[in-house]
Amino acid sequence: MKMTAYLLTTVLIAIIVAPTVVVSIENGQERTNRKLLSKDREEAKNTEVAVVYFSRSGNTAVMAKTIAKIFNADLINIDASKYKIGFWGLTEAARSYQDREVEIDPKELDLSKYKKVFLGSPIWFYRPSPPIFEFAKNNKFNAKDVVLFNSYNSNFGQDHIDEFKSIVMSNGAKSFDHKAVKRGRMGSQISTAKFINIIENKFSKGENDE
Ligand SMILES: Cc1cc2nc3c(=O)[nH]c(=O)nc-3n(C[C@H](O)[C@H](O)[C@H](O)COP(=O)(O)O)c2cc1C
Repeated sequence: MKMTAYLLTTVLIAIIVAPTVVVSIENGQERTNRKLLSKDREEAKNTEVAVVYFSRSGNTAVMAKTIAKIFNADLINIDASKYKIGFWGLTEAARSYQDREVEIDPKELDLSKYKKVFLGSPIWFYRPSPPIFEFAKNNKFNAKDVVLFNSYNSNFGQDHIDEFKSIVMSNGAKSFDHKAVKRGRMGSQISTAKFINIIENKFSKGENDE
């Protein structure tokens, strides 16, 4: 009896406490990132480079903005309301991370003026998130250099990156590259300043993955 009560308590703690902690860490991240992101506005520029990205808690958004600054690129956010920040968005992300069909806005873009397109997303369960897969599936990358970039905590699976590459290449891309920046596990993440510094080094100086 005591054992059952102990097990039940442990399971309840796991079910209630773990998501609460994750949601609160994500909310904190989102607040910090939002402050940084709202400092200046993104404007359409006379450029041949586009940075298209999806982000829940703002890490990939910070990455996107830093890359856009380096390349003087247009910055385009993909919205997927299903995964918005907070408990329900997190639940959806955890429940349907393997989805290959999801409502995104914009779904298609006229990419004809760009020579290079960066596509950004967080890593969810070792793979780029469904919204960026959806975008890659719906768009043509004729004769463009495409770079997938990811923010992540600790690990991703190369097989999922290869799957993404095959979609982009079959939609016309000339080349594919992948760059990812690790933020560290929840609760022990690197500072935003360090994160931006790593992104700058990796993208402007072309440093290889650590
Ligand atoms: C549902 C979910 C699954 C995740 N899975 C992984 C994972 O497999 N590997 C990893 O390194 N990070 C994983 N993460 C952490 C995110 O990749 C990381 O926090 C990322 O920087 C979030 O980007 P964003 O702020 O742009 O949404 C996961 C996060 C969520 C919400």
